Amino acid sequence: MDLIGLKELSAPKFRGLLDLAEDFVGADGRVVTPEKYRDALAGRSVGLLFFEPSTRTRSSFELAVDRLGAYALRVGAEQSSVQKGESVLDTCRNLEAMGVDALVIRHGERHLPFAVKDRVDIPLINAGNGSGEHPTQALIDALTLRRAFARSGETLEGKRVAIIGDIVHSRVARSDVHALTKLGAKVTLAGPSMLVPKEADAEWNADCVTDREEALGDADAVIMLRVQTERIHGELVDANSYVRDWGIDDQVAAEHMKPGAFILHPGPVIRGMELTASVADSERSLILEQVSYSVAVRQAVLLHCIGGDASL
Ligand code: CP
Repeated sequence: MDLIGLKELSAPKFRGLLDLAEDFVGADGRVVTPEKYRDALAGRSVGLLFFEPSTRTRSSFELAVDRLGAYALRVGAEQSSVQKGESVLDTCRNLEAMGVDALVIRHGERHLPFAVKDRVDIPLINAGNGSGEHPTQALIDALTLRRAFARSGETLEGKRVAIIGDIVHSRVARSDVHALTKLGAKVTLAGPSMLVPKEADAEWNADCVTDREEALGDADAVIMLRVQTERIHGELVDANSYVRDWGIDDQVAAEHMKPGAFILHPGPVIRGMELTASVADSERSLILEQVSYSVAVRQAVLLHCIGGDASL
């Protein structure tokens, strides 16, 4: 079973994946691997192909593979024969020919997972395709919020989540909109006009605003995003203006956010740009909780895609 994006995943299947991920979170919130899952993928191997930089996604997939008893075969851009002109598709087909059981791919080209999916017969998991989707990150964000609201007996149903920053280049934002709306949340997308989609853009099932205070005012949670300078080919974003108009510091948080509203960030966080260090480390911040759940979510996704968990 593949996981390329969340748009086509039904809400019950999406909730099923979150429920499965919960199995890997202990009563104290720490990530654990229950005995019954420790050898769930024993004897299997998973190709981890990362053609763009990554800390969180690559590390957590490696840990997830290891904790399920499988073998992680790491293929990086610098060491692979893609450097000598081989196509990524041929690389994938070669790994499949060696008996690798599944592929996890991060690549800068949005179309890549779709091209590979049609040519290999093993499960393919998208770990980020350019500005396309990042489905496992959105599962992490949804799980983090679901658990955070559950602590006060609430759910995401009817909650307002603002996603602020470089929306148009963000695969996380695309997947987050699909994920959060499946759980009944309403989403506001906000950022400088050059970095938010046009209101009429049917690709996005969300409200769009270009004013930070408007975005923050009714948000129960805020997901901050990095400006992806590596994907901006036209006019550059001025860092000082961005911090002034879009950054969140203690004063902005105190004056414009709801008292109990959460702050999330998929990382990497550029401290002093989208968030000050003090806000990133504040009581509102769920950033490290997101990172903790990254292993749980990726264990659930590996089980679902490779193990074929029939309950989903
Ligand atoms: N959130 C995320 O994708 O981080 P990495 O780029 O470090 O994997």
